[in-house]
Amino acid sequence: MSRTHGPDARAADVLVVGGGIIGLVTAWRAAQRGLATTVVDPAPGGGAAQVAAGMLAAVTELHYGEETLLGLNLESARRYPAFAAELAEATGLDLGYRQCGTLAVALDADDRAHLRDLHALQLRSGLESQWLSGRECRRLEPMLAPGVRGGLRVDGDHQIDPRRLAAALVAACERAGVIFHRVWAEELTVVRERATGVRTADGTALTAGQVVLAGGSLSGRLAGLPGDVLPPVRPVKGQVVRLAVPRPYAPFLSRTVRAVVRGSHVYLVPRENGELVVGATSEELGWDTTVTAGGVYELLRDAHELVPGITELPLTETRAGLRPGSPDNAPLLGPTGLDGLVLATGHYRNGVLLTPVTGDVLADVLTTGALPDLARDFSPRRFAAATARPATALSEQPA
Ligand code: GLY
Repeated sequence: MSRTHGPDARAADVLVVGGGIIGLVTAWRAAQRGLATTVVDPAPGGGAAQVAAGMLAAVTELHYGEETLLGLNLESARRYPAFAAELAEATGLDLGYRQCGTLAVALDADDRAHLRDLHALQLRSGLESQWLSGRECRRLEPMLAPGVRGGLRVDGDHQIDPRRLAAALVAACERAGVIFHRVWAEELTVVRERATGVRTADGTALTAGQVVLAGGSLSGRLAGLPGDVLPPVRPVKGQVVRLAVPRPYAPFLSRTVRAVVRGSHVYLVPRENGELVVGATSEELGWDTTVTAGGVYELLRDAHELVPGITELPLTETRAGLRPGSPDNAPLLGPTGLDGLVLATGHYRNGVLLTPVTGDVLADVLTTGALPDLARDFSPRRFAAATARPATALSEQPA
């Protein structure tokens, strides 16, 4: 494919709608393959990554029925060290990537039974996970509550700072020659049954050989999308709080600690810079991004049961974001039934984890037209029968 534009031209080989981490990694990888690439987003580097804790938790976030997704998650986890090193090298930026491991703990007999089931599933799936007694858990993490009854040590589940990741991807895109249009994409343009570009909120017509829709939870809201290719993504609200561990940081937590408390997932992700991220609620409330007293209360209450010392820490931020949920909790990657339209969306709980593999898969799709084998189970065509409502403009979203 030939390069068809200079900095001010309106045509590109690839036009990516959405400048969150998934859109950015797609644009970066496409530009590296020699494709003239444009990203349309009013605030590139924003989106769900601004709220996410950044756990790379293929093993501790394993769920029954998601064994196919596990394969993609593990492949992306395997690619993370090289991906993070390449991105840091390309930009000179620190990504906050920590190969620190994760400890999933149980507080009562029900939690313990749940964790035993998870451990059995992990072992059946060939994953590395070690059962520890409560005492062994506290030896690893002395700030844990005395009541912790046992846990799973997973040394392969790491973390990255998603805000730093997003900033680095913007910088990498800029260095690779990606052009940013900082405006909303309003409507997909379709000519003779082929996606040809978008009309933006300022009335500009942008055209491209291929359009990648990477709008996260908003992906189904781009006007002009034919009903049979409308991605079935929905917003799943997550509230998160951030605390600050005063210097010296080291004695607080050395790795991610997580648990299921009264049926709700809670996790504490300690960064090297002292930030401690506590997440997350999971709420099916449409486009609502209100931080509620109840959400913050439950997170802090559950986190306090795990690590009582957190109540001493300054509370620095409360925030809510929207995960792009899909019907089977797995992403939609690759060509659609509409020529020229490719999807990279629906990453739900795993957007940060799946960033490296998504970039590689989409680069293959954009240069060869075909979905590589490792992603064939994630084709959007698996939902093709489910036609949906007509789309409304991407910009008609809550503040
Ligand atoms: N993967 C963590 C979350 O979605 O809350």
